[in-house]
Amino acid sequence: MAVLVRFDAKGSWGKVLLDAQAVGDALRSLGLSYGSWPRRAVGDGSLDAVLAAYGPELDGLKSQLSIRHVDRVTVKPGNPDWPLLRQRFLAEHTHADAEIRYFLSGSGLFYIRCSDGHLALLCEAGDWIVVPAGMPHFFDAGEHPDFDALRLFSIPQGWEADFTGSQTSRLPTFDEFRVRLHELRAAEGAVPSTP
Ligand SMILES: [Fe+2]
Repeated sequence: MAVLVRFDAKGSWGKVLLDAQAVGDALRSLGLSYGSWPRRAVGDGSLDAVLAAYGPELDGLKSQLSIRHVDRVTVKPGNPDWPLLRQRFLAEHTHADAEIRYFLSGSGLFYIRCSDGHLALLCEAGDWIVVPAGMPHFFDAGEHPDFDALRLFSIPQGWEADFTGSQTSRLPTFDEFRVRLHELRAAEGAVPSTP
């Protein structure tokens, strides 16, 4: 289940939201969409099997968004391409198309720029997110990436990125974020949720 944290312009931790409804409401207020789908068995695990298993959910998204193409990105620990991919993902950018992702397994951390800092959304298996076209964001999955996600596009060149050049190193990496979240949970029994 997703976790949403607000970071100010200095990169300090702010609100931490754990409740799916609160996460969705906070993202919606900024023009993003978020939700979660029940996880389904996916037959032989192929893309065709995944698309068949999640047909009703995908049809629901397609009825709201003009989706023309669906593919899949799978990155596992030790992937030799990850260091280069990670560099690109960590650089803040925008797209001409919405960035739509559904996490089949694993997790990843999106940072979305807002007026007074960034929102960090930790997506886990079952979560989906829509980052609107033109909204600055970046992504990390840590030193040992492990995620399998569907990517949905409305235009053929939607995956191209326009880099903003904005400095984002003050914000926690995926691994730092997970450690801090664990510390908060351990210290308080649960991460405090501020409305
Ligand atoms: Fe992106």
